[in-house]
Amino acid sequence: MFRWPELTAVLVLAVSLTAHGDYPGIGRSVTESEIVAWDTDIGPELDDLPDARGSVSEGRAIYLARCAGCHGVDGRSAEVFYPLVGGTTDADIAGGRVASLRESGVAVSSTIMLLPTLTTLLDYTARAMPFGEAGSLTHDEVFAVSAYVLHLAGVVDDAFVLDPTTAALAQGRLPNRDGFTTDHGLWPGASAQSGGMGNGGIPDASGERCMSDCIP
Ligand code: HEC
Repeated sequence: MFRWPELTAVLVLAVSLTAHGDYPGIGRSVTESEIVAWDTDIGPELDDLPDARGSVSEGRAIYLARCAGCHGVDGRSAEVFYPLVGGTTDADIAGGRVASLRESGVAVSSTIMLLPTLTTLLDYTARAMPFGEAGSLTHDEVFAVSAYVLHLAGVVDDAFVLDPTTAALAQGRLPNRDGFTTDHGLWPGASAQSGGMGNGGIPDASGERCMSDCIP
């Protein structure tokens, strides 16, 4: 699969070789440890997960101490941001599509209603939360608190322990795991009928351009 860090590494290497070649004394080769520091992405295939582990009950303590103040004890507060959980059903979990997203007039969506992959939750939590103290959680804490968020959402039971061996199970129960499509104009390419993932680049929206007396 295409991975940004590898491309970055190639580009950085190319730039640094050029610098050495064309402008002696300027620039230096990128070091192995610098590449390792950037190479933190983990795709939805769940390869390369850190060797971390966290249970729902460990996550509960972390969540109450470090997340609940903003996201609510039950993860449903809409005070600082959209609710983390809510709006999904057991049928959504079983089927992989959030039924209410097909209806018009959904008042508030939650994180779990949209989340397609577990790694999105882990990565976002690790990089950005708690808000104002981003990056302060250990890998084990990220796994534990994510397990607890999944538990609040009804995705895993309270005995669940998230680690690299159970991650696929949790990802396979995300309520909107099959709710995304690449079959639209933002993803040009061969259509599904021709074995591709796109629709040939047909725009997502269409209509007549209005230049005068337009409806508001
Ligand atoms: C000080 C308030 C605060 C605390 C504490 C906090 N968050 Fe957040 N959280 C936010 C805000 C604000 C956003 C939206 C940030 C943005 O979009 O830029 C957010 C966004 C998120 C999102 C992404 C939601 C989405 O759908 O995009 C997740 C997941 C999340 N928080 C989890 C956590 C977890 C887990 C903790 C505890 C470890 C935590 N947060 C602690 C304020 C907080």
